[in-house]
Amino acid sequence: MAVLHKATVVFLPLFFAAAAAQFFQNPYMGGFSFDNGFGGAPAKKGDYETHYKGKWELVCNNSGVSAMHLVLMPNNKAIMFDTTSSGPSNIKLPPGHCRIYKEKNETKKDCWAHGIEYDIHTGFIRTLKSFTHAQSNRSRPTSGVQLVHFLQMGLLCRSVGSDNGGRAARYLSPCDTCDWTEYPTALSVERWYASQQILPDGSFIVVGGRRQFSYEYVPKPGQSNPTNFKLPFLLQTSDAVEDNLYPFVHLSTDGNLFIFANNRSILLDPKFNSIVRELPQLKGGARNYPGSAMSALLPINLHTQTTPPPARVLICGGTPHESAKLAVDGHFLPALRTCGSISITSPTGKWRVETMPTARVMGDMLLLPTADLLLINGAKKGAAGWGSATDPNLEPVMYRPRKPRAKRFMKLRPSAIPRMYHSTSAVLPDGRILVAGSNTNRVYKFSGVAYPTELRVEKFSPPYLDPHLALYRPLIVSSFERTVVGHGEAFSLRFALADVVVELSDLKLTMYAPPFTTHGYSMNQRLLILRAMDLVMVGPTMYEITWVAPSTAAIAPPGYYLVFLVHRGVPSEGIWIRIRIQ
Ligand SMILES: *[C@@H]1O[C@H](CO)[C@@H](O)[C@H](O)[C@H]1NC(C)=O
Ligand SMILES: *[C@@H]1O[C@H](CO)[C@@H](O)[C@H](O)[C@H]1NC(C)=O
Ligand SMILES: *[C@@H]1O[C@H](CO)[C@@H](O)[C@H](O)[C@H]1NC(C)=O
Ligand SMILES: *[C@@H]1O[C@H](CO)[C@@H](O)[C@H](O)[C@H]1NC(C)=O
Repeated sequence: MAVLHKATVVFLPLFFAAAAAQFFQNPYMGGFSFDNGFGGAPAKKGDYETHYKGKWELVCNNSGVSAMHLVLMPNNKAIMFDTTSSGPSNIKLPPGHCRIYKEKNETKKDCWAHGIEYDIHTGFIRTLKSFTHAQSNRSRPTSGVQLVHFLQMGLLCRSVGSDNGGRAARYLSPCDTCDWTEYPTALSVERWYASQQILPDGSFIVVGGRRQFSYEYVPKPGQSNPTNFKLPFLLQTSDAVEDNLYPFVHLSTDGNLFIFANNRSILLDPKFNSIVRELPQLKGGARNYPGSAMSALLPINLHTQTTPPPARVLICGGTPHESAKLAVDGHFLPALRTCGSISITSPTGKWRVETMPTARVMGDMLLLPTADLLLINGAKKGAAGWGSATDPNLEPVMYRPRKPRAKRFMKLRPSAIPRMYHSTSAVLPDGRILVAGSNTNRVYKFSGVAYPTELRVEKFSPPYLDPHLALYRPLIVSSFERTVVGHGEAFSLRFALADVVVELSDLKLTMYAPPFTTHGYSMNQRLLILRAMDLVMVGPTMYEITWVAPSTAAIAPPGYYLVFLVHRGVPSEGIWIRIRIQ
């Protein structure tokens, strides 16, 4: 049984008394944000100003399994897993649940867990079974990390990858006793380090993988793909050290797929399996594994007359082309500091290059409830791979696309814990960021190395969680949890906001698809700025806002989303809704 605790969704510090006095004294009031037409209706009053650089909290000393892969499920459980080839973890499977496997004619038993479910509210950990087919193929040292690709859809999470299970699709539902269901021969070929993306009809495409210059669509459970679609672009973008794995795949608002590998990108029409066009090259170096940059589809603003709504992709960091090769010999080149962004809906889109305050490889790029972005984790030198990086980048950076160029990046409070290769992070419904993992070693190593395997889990509070702004945080009171929403349908949502006069232009509704994150790439992540229609006051501190769900499945593919109400830059807690299959 899936259990969702409504009560956990609503706890906000609302100070009813003395609020009016604070309203006038608060030094954080009154900042104006410049709107460059990207990311929301112009806010008349502007966002509340804050100089808060964030806060780190250590929430778990021992997650048992290091979070090489991380996904937040709609029952507020975070799934963390690595690979069975990572050796003994720090948490055992329950008695009688060990993984039995064959290695060189010998029957072996592994009783260490390689996947857990972590309750984001209570910290409770439940082990998940290990994949029966996931074994290390030791005859291929460079693929000793058996990667599992994870597909998230509606109630289900699916994954593909992993040695004998390299063709497998795996499913996991969000419930207190659910575990993996495996279909070992779903894909036509083994796909290590491939990317996946949900499509408008709710199916998934899987693109690339080591020495796989093709893509395919995940078949229905129990079926096997006899063949796949060739994509020579993936062969052309493969360097001596690859630099084209985990290609960045984003579903554009017109239904085309943006596919970026190394320093080139194409638009693919999945309906006809045809390449629409190639976009200009992005200068500066390698952006895909092991040159692991970060990438996201920038927030899609639905307050627009344009059909389809404009879509832009952002790519930040990465490495020079030589990095991964030199890192193997212990020579660590500085990572890239450049970001490129490009319109993928305009046929004349060109890269616009900006510079981050610090270099970053293997970082995560997360879309925040406010429609800003967070760059977190990773290293300043080296590349992705075991022991291939140094100089952890401890300092998250916020990127605010609606600010003038010179003000877009903001450095935030650093963590004390290095998070490099195999680290992950996830946006939580309360607006904090779950930060986990990091293992630059082939197997679990807790001492005797520069960067031991990390089992500590942190939560990071971004600037919008400044305690001084808590007063302005809206509280969604509608019991909306898990509502199923159809494309283009109108909805109203009640919220409480004490002693602050609000107008429609002070508010922004955002809708966030939580990604599956691994190796510095958050797949299937998207954030939509919804069209808000009307605002009425229904009580002394109570309002009702009417909004319209995204009009098409290319804009908002089916599945679970978190809806946030943002009041002048201060987000409410998110509530889960589900967009139904059209
Ligand atoms: C983690 O361990 C430290 C040191 O032993 C301790 O002070 C802290 O309370 C622990 N934190 C949690 C969340 O268990
Ligand atoms: C495995 O067993 C088979 C059949 O008994 C034998 O022919 C083969 O040499 C064995 N291989 C190894 C690696 O022990
Ligand atoms: C290991 O990889 C090699 C090279 O790709 C392949 O020929 C072999 O069949 C694989 N072994 C197993 C057990 O999958
Ligand atoms: C893209 O990368 C290739 C190496 O894979 C390099 O030869 C080429 O010059 C790069 N293009 C640009 C514009 O930097």
